[in-house]
Amino acid sequence: MSDLATDIRRRRTFAIISHPDAGKTTLTEKLLLFSGAIQIAGSVKARKASRHATSDWMEIEKQRGISVASSVMQMEYGDCVINLLDTPGHQDFSEDTYRVLTAVDAALMVIDAANGVEPQTRRLLQVCRARNTPIITFVNKMDREVKEPLALMDEIEQELGMTVVPFTWPVGMAKFFHGVMDLRRDQMRLFEPGEDRAGGDEETLHGLQDAAHAERFGGPYEQALGEMELVRDAAPAFDHAEFLAGRQTPMFFGSAINNFGVREVLDALCELAPPPGARAALERTVEPAEPKFSGVVFKVQANMDPAHRDRIAFVRVSSGRFTRGMRLKVVRNGKEMRPQTVVSFLSQRRELVDDAVAGDIIGIPNHGVLQLGDTLTEGEGLHFTGLPFFAPESFRTVEIKDPLRSKQLRQGLQQLGEEGAIQVFTPVAGGSMMLGAIGQLQFEVVLHRLKGEYGVEARLDPCRFSLARWITSADEAKLKKFIDSEPLRIAYDVVGAPAFLCQYSSDLRVTQERVPDIQFHAMREHS
Ligand code: G4P
Repeated sequence: MSDLATDIRRRRTFAIISHPDAGKTTLTEKLLLFSGAIQIAGSVKARKASRHATSDWMEIEKQRGISVASSVMQMEYGDCVINLLDTPGHQDFSEDTYRVLTAVDAALMVIDAANGVEPQTRRLLQVCRARNTPIITFVNKMDREVKEPLALMDEIEQELGMTVVPFTWPVGMAKFFHGVMDLRRDQMRLFEPGEDRAGGDEETLHGLQDAAHAERFGGPYEQALGEMELVRDAAPAFDHAEFLAGRQTPMFFGSAINNFGVREVLDALCELAPPPGARAALERTVEPAEPKFSGVVFKVQANMDPAHRDRIAFVRVSSGRFTRGMRLKVVRNGKEMRPQTVVSFLSQRRELVDDAVAGDIIGIPNHGVLQLGDTLTEGEGLHFTGLPFFAPESFRTVEIKDPLRSKQLRQGLQQLGEEGAIQVFTPVAGGSMMLGAIGQLQFEVVLHRLKGEYGVEARLDPCRFSLARWITSADEAKLKKFIDSEPLRIAYDVVGAPAFLCQYSSDLRVTQERVPDIQFHAMREHS
């Protein structure tokens, strides 16, 4: 077996963040293509389509043409093993995306050059910034009529609050897109439309100041040279430490659909993005190359494969090495498990994993033993922190059509809640369960899945609440007293954490003033 520290240093674990339609799927596919993980372009899209066809609960995706599910893809490139975590593009599933972002060490931000910074990019970037995740920027669709590169650069800096350091600079756009200048190598790679080449074999011109090039490409070349000079004077030099701290982002231009600029991004991921780092647990900081295995469940997905009706816990390995059949402890309840059929996600096929190291993602099929946020170890009592749950912004009560199926309803909601598909609240005073969501589509998915997976026809009714805050207190007795005093406005979530629910933010303010010893939280971190 190879050396653990060496194996870990080769890992790059990242996610692509973008607004829908910026080109995430296309770029994902090209990254897989360039790393040799897939042979033919079109297979990711095809997979997207076949997923729709084979998976019944994802029927809803087909109806809406959006991607609800996230998955993991592993590929080798050069000396690196790259784990790419997919994230749902639609903002109604952003909670899921936020949690996926806790499992990565870097992010690749894709920007549609015609649209600039869009709302979903802004939101996702905020999450990355809060965690100081290093970001590489890819400006896509240069083969179209797009914004001026200087304006784009300015927009990214202003909107996202990061210093942008261009590594490449475009010459022209749309029909007159001739290629990109490589600012560090004093050369230009020429653009050729088409998906047939795997990149890297484009014609390269050396010596950017050569008058022959200016003559060949005319105005756009002169303009790019001028802009490059400007950028060189105005932008600071690339500083790796600033990048690792999430304050500087290297920027690349290209066209994913035309396989152009993709290789530079892969190279940057390998050269610039960090290998797995230390992870914070309540008890201590855990170093990746510690010999003992530890990991955290950052995503649970039920019934990914309808033929198996399984439930998969996605675990980010935080330290050590996972080997098949090893004995693991679920720290939350002390249960032992010995997963035999753990899967990795090599080139998009689920494959049995024999061996995974810090930075890798493994999928453990289970029947509810593993929950979101669970820490797995070889025995040590560690609790990894930082998995966020956000206070829902809309609520519904659940009513069932056939009362004889209320047990299935409870079971279904418990599982969907544990999976993080929706937040489920049970009022202290009893009565109907309530669902809380960040986005409306979550409600639709839950109704659909309740019916498809649990045989429960449910109806969602409007609910008077519109705000939730988790409550804690250093003084347990005071917390209990507050809970007892508000049986109609306090409910327990799926892990038993109490939350205060109300209609208006003024209700919240008044209550907060009345009980100063109670803390109200818009976000709950799993611990
Ligand atoms: P997403 O996952 O971020 O939602 O975006 P996706 O890759 O599906 O791309 C959105 C659309 O943008 C697709 O077109 C895709 O072909 C196109 N696209 C991606 N990269 C480029 C690029 O470099 N240049 C140009 N001109 N277009 C690009 P579509 O018409 O929605 O889908 P399709 O019919 O091509 O499948």
